[in-house]
Amino acid sequence: MIIYDGKHHVFKLDTPNTSYLCGLADEKYLGHIYYGRKLGDTDLGYLLRTEERPQPPSQLLREKAGFFDCYPMEYSFGGTGDFRESCVEAASESGQKGLELTYVSHEIYEGKKALEGLPATWGGECDTLEITLEDAVTGLKAVLSYTAFRDVDAIARSVRIINDGKENLILLRALSACLDMDQEDYELLTLPGSWARERHIQRRDIGYGAVSVESLRGISSHQDHPFFALVSRGCTETSGEAYGMNLVYSGNFLGKVFRNQFDQIRAVMGIHPGHFSWKLAPGESFQAPEAVLVYSDGGLGKMTRSFHKLYRNHLIRGVWRDRERPVLINNWEATYFNFDTEKLLSIAREAAKNGIEMLVMDDGWFGHRESDNSSLGDWFVNEKKLPGGLPRLAEEVNKLGMKLGIWLEPEMISEDSELYKAHPDWALQLKDRSPVQCREQLVLDLSRPEVADYIYEQIRAVLSSANIEYVKWDMNRPLADVGNAVLPPDRQGEISHRYVLAVYRMQERLISDFPELLLENCSSGGGRFDPGMLYYSPQIWCSDDTDAIERLAVQEGTQLIYPLSCIGAHVSACPNDITGRTVPFETRGIVALAGTFGYELDITRIPEEDRKQISGQVELYKKYHPLIREGEYYRIASWRENHEFDCYMVVAPDRSKALLTFVQVLAGVNRRSRKIRLQGLDEDGYYRVDGKVYQGRTLMCAGFLVEGLRGDFRARLIEIERV
Ligand code: DGJ
Repeated sequence: MIIYDGKHHVFKLDTPNTSYLCGLADEKYLGHIYYGRKLGDTDLGYLLRTEERPQPPSQLLREKAGFFDCYPMEYSFGGTGDFRESCVEAASESGQKGLELTYVSHEIYEGKKALEGLPATWGGECDTLEITLEDAVTGLKAVLSYTAFRDVDAIARSVRIINDGKENLILLRALSACLDMDQEDYELLTLPGSWARERHIQRRDIGYGAVSVESLRGISSHQDHPFFALVSRGCTETSGEAYGMNLVYSGNFLGKVFRNQFDQIRAVMGIHPGHFSWKLAPGESFQAPEAVLVYSDGGLGKMTRSFHKLYRNHLIRGVWRDRERPVLINNWEATYFNFDTEKLLSIAREAAKNGIEMLVMDDGWFGHRESDNSSLGDWFVNEKKLPGGLPRLAEEVNKLGMKLGIWLEPEMISEDSELYKAHPDWALQLKDRSPVQCREQLVLDLSRPEVADYIYEQIRAVLSSANIEYVKWDMNRPLADVGNAVLPPDRQGEISHRYVLAVYRMQERLISDFPELLLENCSSGGGRFDPGMLYYSPQIWCSDDTDAIERLAVQEGTQLIYPLSCIGAHVSACPNDITGRTVPFETRGIVALAGTFGYELDITRIPEEDRKQISGQVELYKKYHPLIREGEYYRIASWRENHEFDCYMVVAPDRSKALLTFVQVLAGVNRRSRKIRLQGLDEDGYYRVDGKVYQGRTLMCAGFLVEGLRGDFRARLIEIERV
């Protein structure tokens, strides 16, 4: 519900358990008042005034800059006295940049509008407030959009910048959200990482000055994540406050948290202003992506469950959202580039016997690609490897009762390719410089519509040529030399964002042309695992690190915000190709069950005792997947923190059953007991666990002993059923 208290000039947005309030000082300046537990009162405008700091300009004009520099801005602007991080900056034809945004009007309506060309949360169970602010001198308008969901404790924010003036404007930054709060001893939680080590949870103090999460790699990246949470000191899984902010965007981003001289916190998020500019002629507008905000007064776990619910109910789309996903086997780690139809079919035959439902042919089936140094852009089959091409392969795989999926990397071009010979200028490149290689490949300049259209038509033809039911859309390098010879100098700063928009447009076309296709995004593992991509694909490959033990921390960080149903997780062979570690096959299966589940190995060559376990693992997946897909996630213990074991559970929405996963990473002697306190059960209900019946309250307060694990890397799945 959203209301406007006109008497006090306060806007109040309510979700089931939270309230968000902002209001006007001087009837002009939109300020942030409150975000937290649900409130009854609306007249909280008094919180915009403090005795210690300058009063609004109507009362103390001589200290206008001082007022701007401490007022809790709802959408900050700079150049006129607020020296903190600005959300919006634009240069007029004079080259000058100051702005002063004041309230013009607002509108409240049921539902939510789509954001043109951009992924965003959707759904009818919500209300939207749009507040228009204007800079009287340049005519720049900012339309701030806030959606309050009725079924989940989340607020979605986005901004549209309009040039309502008479001159061209160059937009230099247009962030999506700003949260100005008083410092209440918050810590900052972020998800940094690296290739094969994505999204590891990090917590740190917020001192004076700024801390940022950011990517200038053209993708949301392995290294940083477009997410942060401000959490109360000592906030745990089950207690304390957490404010999470996640950007629904897949390109360059900036999230910045800044503590100022008055111990106020400003937290902003949006497209990274570095390498960004956007020319706005009079009448034109720019849509900034959406940021979603979640508040929890029940620790990190409650924040997690709100994000999961938001993404399941209001972001992920398509027929596969609620469907059981086929158990797949992918040949990447099995063969790398060294395969042909016969090899693939030998894998498929053995896989089919063991209950696996889909063969995914990874990189290396097109052009003359025998390693990662050629052929990207040449989306035609290598008949030497695949005689009869995709139609024959699909037929043979289908005959085995399996589906066929394929790998594509549509955004790239190899210098050694037919496409590059024909269109060398189609690669992103800076004037007078050779294009910068990475994995010996270049990035296609998708900001040019003719390039994106050509590539899209190529992949559409491939997918129409045979019965292909799944695509892994990969993207294996960052954007380095972002420039082209097509756009004028004052538009070169638009290329990164235009590129992201083009990827979105291509994926939108793909899922509307092939509505039954199961699309899995990937970027050298989890380099573009973000809510933007989730809008197009219901699952994303989480990490190239398939070592089950390494995966624990990667999956923990990913699960902090993303539902398990979208996390690509596979069982691979041991010793693991990346780490060299050997983990029991059973443990590998149990860890991969906390995701989309599949295999990434040569099933014809793994030890017989491992192969024999596959059909049982597939059965477990079939049995538990509805729970994993729809259940509520609770983190019980983290190996990252305790250095001994990892534990999490999923609980059915009606609390009738749950599945607990316990991984003993390292065995030891004379250590603490393996007592864990369960969560999410019905306190008064009775549950059978390991053949014994306990009251829910007992399991949650007194705890449960996990027994019977000896040795390193051992895991158990424990079923919990209400009696
Ligand atoms: C990176 C992906 O993450 C891998 O799974 C694999 O598809 C390779 N690319 C292929 O080049």
